[in-house]
Formats: sequence, C-alpha cells, structure tokens
Amino acid sequence: MNFQSAKIQHFKDSPNGSEDPPLQARLFPYNDAASKMFAKRTNWNLAPNRLSLALAAHRAARKPLIDLTVSNPTECGFEYDRSAILNALSNPAALSYEPNPRGLECARRAVAGYYADRDDSVSVEDIFLTTSTSEAYSYVFRTLCDPGDELLIPSPSYPLFDFLAEIQDVRLVRYPLLYDHGWQIDFHALEQAITPRTRGVIVVHPNNPTGSFVSNAERQKLNEFCRQHNLSLIADEVFLDYAHDGAPRPSFAANQDVLTFTLSGLSKIAGLPQMKVAWIATSGPTDKVTAALGRLEIIADTYLSMNAPIQLATPVLLEQGKSIQPLLLDRLRTNLAEVDRQLTLQKACQRLQLEGGWYAVLRVPVTQSDEDLAIDLLRKVSVLVHPGHFYDFPSDGYLITSLITPPKDFRAGVERVLGRLNP
Ligand SMILES: Cc1ncc(COP(=O)(O)O)c(C=O)c1O
Repeated sequence: MNFQSAKIQHFKDSPNGSEDPPLQARLFPYNDAASKMFAKRTNWNLAPNRLSLALAAHRAARKPLIDLTVSNPTECGFEYDRSAILNALSNPAALSYEPNPRGLECARRAVAGYYADRDDSVSVEDIFLTTSTSEAYSYVFRTLCDPGDELLIPSPSYPLFDFLAEIQDVRLVRYPLLYDHGWQIDFHALEQAITPRTRGVIVVHPNNPTGSFVSNAERQKLNEFCRQHNLSLIADEVFLDYAHDGAPRPSFAANQDVLTFTLSGLSKIAGLPQMKVAWIATSGPTDKVTAALGRLEIIADTYLSMNAPIQLATPVLLEQGKSIQPLLLDRLRTNLAEVDRQLTLQKACQRLQLEGGWYAVLRVPVTQSDEDLAIDLLRKVSVLVHPGHFYDFPSDGYLITSLITPPKDFRAGVERVLGRLNP
C-alpha cells in the first residue's frame, strides 16, 4: 500500500463511510475532557474504516488473501545485495559524532552524484538530508507556511498529504488532474485555487497513483504561474526513476526559474524504505535559495535527525538503486503486460494510461461505491485492492493495484477481480 504505515490507511474514511455497518467504538474517547487536553489538530477520527474492518475480519478468520496493494519492496521477492548493504552499515567512522544540519558531506556528495548522473547539477550545499520524504515535507512546510497558510496539491494523489499538512497546521487546497488519454494539470482550476494565503504548489513527478509525469510544457506553465504569484514549487520525485518506457524524465532539482524544493529518497530509488534516508534539494533564484537554506538550516539543526551509520552508508545504498531499479522496472512491465492481456479478454474494465510509478488504476463499472466494491472483492474473491477515494478520485469507478506485487499473485488477483466484475 501507499500509506506510510499500514496503520494510516485504516483511518482514511470513505465519503459515505458512516452509513453501515456501525463503526467500531473509537479508539479514543472523544469526550470533553479529552478535547480540552489535546490539540484540535490531533482530533482525528481513529475509527477504522469499513474496508479495514472487513480486512481484519478476513484475517481473523484465517482466510487466504491475495494482496494487490503491497508496496513494500522488501516484501516482494527482490534479490538485494545483502552483504554490500549490511557491510555499509558498520563503518567505524560512525563511532564519532560530527553533527551537521545538512547531513554528512559524504552522503550529500552521493546525492549530488545521483543528480549528476541525470545531467543535473545540484550543489552539495543545497542538499539537506532527512529521515524520510515525510520529514522533508514537514521541514519545507514549516519553512514556507504559517498556521492556516495554504499549499496547492494535485488530486488525485498521495493519501498521506492530509496528515502531513494537518500536523504542520497547513491547509491543503486541491487542484484537479484531468484524465483524457493521459493526465493533465487543470491550470484553470489551479489559477482559481489561489488565495492570499497560498504559499506553494506541490507536484508529484510522477504522481501516485496516476503514474503521470509533469510534462515539459506543464513545467514551463508551473514556473510562470509560481513566478507570477510569488509561490514556491515543491516537487516529490520519489518515483522519478520508474518511467515505464525507460526514457529518463527531467528532475526539478536544478529548476532555476522559481524557488523549488525537490524531495526524494532511498525508499523508492533504492527500494530501501527501512533505511530512512531522504533529502531536499533546493534550487531557484539565488536570493530566494539563500534565504530558504538559512531557514531550513535552523529547522534541521534543531532536530539533527540523521544518524551517523546510515549517512556513512548512503553512498553504497544509493548505488544499490542501479541494481534494484532494473528488477523493479521489469516487475512493473511484466505486471502491466499481464493486466493488459487480461483486460483484452473482457469488456467491463479498462486501465487508465500511465507513464511511470508503481501503481495502476482500473476504471470499473459503478454499481456501488468503490469502498463497497473493495469490500465485496475481499469477501467474495479474497483479493485486496484500494478504492479510488483513498487517493481522492473525484467519483466512484476506480480501483488501484500495486504493480510491484509478485507476478503469480498479481496474475491470480487480477483474474479474480476481472472475473467478479464480468459476471
Ligand atoms: C508520492 C510519495 N511520496 C513520498 C512517499 C514516502 O516516501 P518516504 O518513505 O521517503 O517517506 C511515498 C510512499 O509511497 C509516495 O508515494
């Protein structure tokens, strides 16, 4: 799945999730005393959604399950270079503490090298290491936004944004991506979404789960838009290396036109989410970059969250991307070819076009809500898929599957889903 942890997906509610069956008691007592004791921003509805309840019941009954939502690459049968990874973590230099708000220079040099390999020049001084892309988001949000300030985010997109923003007291305003033989940014809606409190535009390149890259023409328009309204760009590029056609797409890391924060990390680049290494590369007009770096430095210095062993290992871990990415790309293409093969044998469903990333979106008949459909598929054919509303699809009729699922499971799972949807 796409959520940071298995837990958060349990709370992502369906738009009509409160109907039936009755939700379990909340994990948290929402009484007066509690509301006075805790911050309003943590006043989350912690009741599991109906799909999570159905999944828990399925597991409790020990029924078999084909999980088409797996997105943890360490659980998908890939062969990692175990000794290279483990040896890299036992560098004796880790016995001394050299605090640096940006992170150790040897690790930042490796990150700059990653961009140099793609012909982008990024200075080691413009890179801050973080423990995750999520932490990188929080640093950037804190740098740009006062409580209540707004950021524009694509819709559909990555479900964790809501939590990342709420925790930082940032308001998210959605701008739609429109689907017409591929996804495009709705620039008219983007323009409409702007208010005096808007501080920046987030792009996910390629987006999760639509698999759409920001095109060169869109990038130009985004730069113009941000320049005109004095906004920053925040580019999430965790899936940048997974273009299905193998043609490298340009990074935003060297974007000079406007203040740009490019976020990425090892969780997808090297298939190593457990290592907790990510970064922010800052670029743009010199005066703005200098001001941003000064502010980021104070935030990062306050936490100094990177540990020494992992930073010393970063050059080796980043290098692992070169061997794991071909395996992942092969998996993505194999599963995509399989779903396409099966789709030609039926009429009810289609796959939306995609260019990259680890997910595929299926367009399915709307005979019930997507959440009800996902629950039905779980109960009747023991397959777990994500309903579109997890990613803020604007209407029902969308299911999301992970393309890094082991191929045998993927084939069988898709067969069952399509069988159920083509009675
Ligand atoms: C678009 C996007 N950004 C960021 C992340 C998380 O990255 P990290 O593990 O570095 O926090 C994910 C995880 O699936 C993602 O889909």
